[in-house]
Amino acid sequence: MHDPAALRLLHQKRFQSAPSIFAAPGRVNLIGEHTDYAEGFVMPAAIEFATLAAISPRTDGKVVLYSENFGEECTFDASALPRSAEKRWTDYPIGVFAVLAGEGHTIPGLSLSLWGDVPVASGLSSSAALEVATALAVASLLGVSYTGPELARLCQRAENEFVGASSGIMDQFISANGAEDHALLLDCRDLSFRLAPIPHSVALVIANTMVKHSVAGGEYTTRRAEVEEACAVIARHRPVVRFLRDATVSDLEKWGHEMSPNALKRARHVITENLRTVAAAEALIHHDLKELGRLMAEAHTSYSQDFEASCVEADAMVALAQDLPGLIGARLTGGGFGGCTINLVEAEKASEFAEALAARYAGEIGIVPQVHICHASAGAHRID
Ligand code: GLA
Repeated sequence: MHDPAALRLLHQKRFQSAPSIFAAPGRVNLIGEHTDYAEGFVMPAAIEFATLAAISPRTDGKVVLYSENFGEECTFDASALPRSAEKRWTDYPIGVFAVLAGEGHTIPGLSLSLWGDVPVASGLSSSAALEVATALAVASLLGVSYTGPELARLCQRAENEFVGASSGIMDQFISANGAEDHALLLDCRDLSFRLAPIPHSVALVIANTMVKHSVAGGEYTTRRAEVEEACAVIARHRPVVRFLRDATVSDLEKWGHEMSPNALKRARHVITENLRTVAAAEALIHHDLKELGRLMAEAHTSYSQDFEASCVEADAMVALAQDLPGLIGARLTGGGFGGCTINLVEAEKASEFAEALAARYAGEIGIVPQVHICHASAGAHRID
């Protein structure tokens, strides 16, 4: 649950000062997986789950962070920011401070209370929500304003440079720039984007396999390295190819034999996924839901078989959804290796669908999943 009024009271009681409050949402990616760091296309939507940040200035030169989720407080001098990550929740806000300080800002004494309901380690970008909420809050205290894309870049740097996860720009971008009732087709090369309306007749049903996923974990990094290996092989022959975004299936046919078998498969996923993502945005914009569903199914197969980023539980969750009434398309969403599937479902059948999917999954896998019926939500904002 995230309740701004409750957070305001909680902050006031703990710090004896009235805060400003900011919200940043988590996200679900409809299609376009592991394409962002290859400067390709992604199509995420922000969701109702969000992190709230309540902030107020302090006069004692201290930074005091409080997480309601963890029930923990962390204090340090604003003039002596911690220099390295400790693999805990504080890494995300401190990473944001570190990037702002590196940009020449002096971090002032402040109290920051954080409270969120984005499921953690579920592929729904709880870390990006935490970073973006913190960045908005601190920027307001500093009296600086960032555009949505600038905010996303700043938070991505916190994640890459301080937290130490080699993620792309998608999660921070959609958390900062999401729009109600829309998915966003983002070109990760120049951060230009196009909004694609999601009709009210379509619900986003997010089914959590309950298998934990982590971007900081080894598999994400290994996949990224394999993608870069494939790109380097193609670039030897065609130097204009700087990222797999620039490569084609025919490049793979010509030079795939020079790559390791894994690099070839990963590259095939990324190159075809870019094509599918652009086609999926067209399909959504033109209300061709059948085509959208077909592309999502193809994307899941590619993600599972070529990118090998799925798992038994996620494959089951996708397979079990196939013949349920109302399904438009289903696939594993996010960084992979667990987390959630996204199911586009006819809104009037969504509750029935969610219940049936949960029962099937529990029966087959022996784990009771969390299934959420969501709608595309607005990006990060101040709450008055
Ligand atoms: C994680 C990363 C993103 C993106 C996805 C995979 O969510 O944070 O940058 O690479 O995985 O599409």
